[in-house]
Amino acid sequence: MPAKETVIEVNSLVKKYGALTAVDNISFKVKSGEIFAFCGPNGAGKTTTVEMLECLRVPTSGSAKVLGLDISKRSDLSKIRSRIGVLPQEFNTFELLTVRESLKFFGGVFDKHLDADELIKIIDMEEYSNILYKNLSGGLKQRVGVAISLVNDPEVIFLDEPTTGLDPKARRGVWEVLQDLKKSGKTVFLTTHYMDEVETLADNVAVILSGKIVAEGTPRRLISKYGGHQTLVVEGGGESTYKVLKNRMKDVELEPNGDVLAKIHSKSDLSDAFTALNENKVDYDRFSVRGATFDDVFLNLSGKKIVEGKLE
Ligand SMILES: Nc1ncnc2c1ncn2[C@@H]1O[C@H](COP(=O)(O)OP(=O)(O)OP(=O)(O)O)[C@@H](O)[C@H]1O
Ligand SMILES: [Mg+2]
Repeated sequence: MPAKETVIEVNSLVKKYGALTAVDNISFKVKSGEIFAFCGPNGAGKTTTVEMLECLRVPTSGSAKVLGLDISKRSDLSKIRSRIGVLPQEFNTFELLTVRESLKFFGGVFDKHLDADELIKIIDMEEYSNILYKNLSGGLKQRVGVAISLVNDPEVIFLDEPTTGLDPKARRGVWEVLQDLKKSGKTVFLTTHYMDEVETLADNVAVILSGKIVAEGTPRRLISKYGGHQTLVVEGGGESTYKVLKNRMKDVELEPNGDVLAKIHSKSDLSDAFTALNENKVDYDRFSVRGATFDDVFLNLSGKKIVEGKLE
């Protein structure tokens, strides 16, 4: 297979707001046709970075190319804008226009644009085309936002936290649209603070903390590099399981729901745990092994968890 073309290339990019360095010397590449996740907590510098790539904010130093065009070169700006799609963070559009009317309006802004009904099909909202924007659920509003970002049939789409605040079902609806965009050959640049979103969608991910990229690669690679140990889960094991395992293994925890979690440090840990539970005739519901997830990657990189975007 030929090597994929680089569509975004960022080199030593810096953005300062007065004394604050919001984006601190970051470099990365995004390949054609991939979903690239830019993942970090509130205030990490995600929006600042995306908006520099969208030519909306001017970098303090460093450089970036989008589709081979220079974001700092005046003559390239309109060329970049005509070939990218943008869904800003916390996007909203005209409350009193229907889905189709909104898409027609935004189409009218560009000489060359996709037809409203074609866009409605892409976001799988045919049955909502005559509904007023204000009457849509949060997830459907976001899908309209994605459709608006597609009116000029862009090659690269920037989506700033497209699923923040949505319930799990609505988030999956947006994910499906993004997966379809990828299938149709678009490059998707997505910011998020949801670890499951990274794991489900991203071909590549960069983790940004306080303006710096602290890890980059495929989610799978980062999980094996930074995810840490697998965990033995004894569901419904309770106090008795906890006591038995505590004598044999390091890092054993009893959860409030009665599950017992134990970090697996070596292959013999598993058989030792199993033997100990049998010897002591301990009662439990289920014995399973949980692999590391992207949550563990983030926890190990930052020392903290992200809860609703905030580091805790
Ligand atoms: N126009 C601005 N002027 C001054 N400071 C700013 C400006 N925009 C952002 N900042 C600051 O820069 C830092 C990075 O902000 P940014 O919005 O890029 O983060 P983010 O990762 O998008 O966060 P969130 O998840 O909350 O959207 C924050 O400390 C923020 O307060
Ligand atoms: Mg932001």
